[in-house]
Amino acid sequence: MEPILEVEDLRVYYKSIWGDYRSVDGASLKAYRNEVLSIAGESGCGKSTLVEGVLRLVKPPGYIPTGRVVFEGTDILKIPEEDLRRIRWTKLAYVPQGAMNSLNPVVKVEEQAIDAIIDHSSMDEEKARELAFSMFKEVGLRAEVGGMYPHQLSGGMKQRVIIATAIALKPSLVIADEPTTALDVVVQRGILQLFRMLKEKYHMTVIMVSHDMAAHAQIADRIAIMYAGKIAEVGSIHSIFEEPLHPYTKGLISAIPSIGKRYVKGIPGLAPSPLNWPPGCRFHPRCQHATALCAKVDPPMKEIGSERFVACHLYG
Ligand SMILES: Nc1ncnc2c1ncn2[C@@H]1O[C@H](COP(=O)(O)OP(=O)(O)OP(=O)(O)O)[C@@H](O)[C@H]1O
Ligand SMILES: [Mg+2]
Repeated sequence: MEPILEVEDLRVYYKSIWGDYRSVDGASLKAYRNEVLSIAGESGCGKSTLVEGVLRLVKPPGYIPTGRVVFEGTDILKIPEEDLRRIRWTKLAYVPQGAMNSLNPVVKVEEQAIDAIIDHSSMDEEKARELAFSMFKEVGLRAEVGGMYPHQLSGGMKQRVIIATAIALKPSLVIADEPTTALDVVVQRGILQLFRMLKEKYHMTVIMVSHDMAAHAQIADRIAIMYAGKIAEVGSIHSIFEEPLHPYTKGLISAIPSIGKRYVKGIPGLAPSPLNWPPGCRFHPRCQHATALCAKVDPPMKEIGSERFVACHLYG
């Protein structure tokens, strides 16, 4: 399989008066063509920062000390800003966390989509209007919705507007950060099905970031589990849910609520601070299998079986 995106040892730090917040601190990851790759992990583990690093959208006091991000053969962190601007939207689309709340309240949603299309392509207004209309239909919005203002739309409809706009130019990769958070489960399911449609109909690669393991289970082909600024485990969605290896992954899966499960087991302890990661394996203070080695040596990522990777001293 050919990777469309390769992230190698990416670091994204935020400067502060207390020192650097090492929010993403050595993350490596591959996304393959025409797959849905999920990125999961507790709040604050660095998922959004990782995505911002990949898209080179990190703003001061954030900076990228090291790392490589290769998208379709182009090193995103090295190319001129102008070239990057050309790639964004046309080839690499992004739905930021909370994007549905960033729609302009005084402009009809269709006009906002048309403006974005004109801004990022050579289309004239008539062509952009036609495209916006067809994309709104494609994502399941009724014809009259385009003429409405954001406050007249439900959360799910706003999210569909955002997605229709982001993918209007048929990018090869779309990265969506928490696209279903704050939506009820029925609307969530509709949005997740929409991403699968994009993969199947337009052969897009979708990277979906969420802390919601149940959402990942419904949509992903593969899943990467992030902990403390790094990737802890990667594998097919089936292998990870059927046989999680990393103790952190096991904790995340056992924390998924379900009917009949009256008591949901959480993960003991608190997530560490990016100002001061624990030495050795960053999960060791919360891990019931931790040994003296775990407190000293950061486990490297090891391949366990085909396309299954885990960074834990218990394996390999
Ligand atoms: N501008 C900033 N300045 C300093 N620290 C920041 C900044 N933005 C994020 N951080 C820190 O980086 C860490 C990772 O944040 P990030 O938003 O990437 O987490 P996340 O995994 O996306 O969380 P969530 O699931 O809540 O969206 C957090 O500890 C956060 O406090
Ligand atoms: Mg986030």
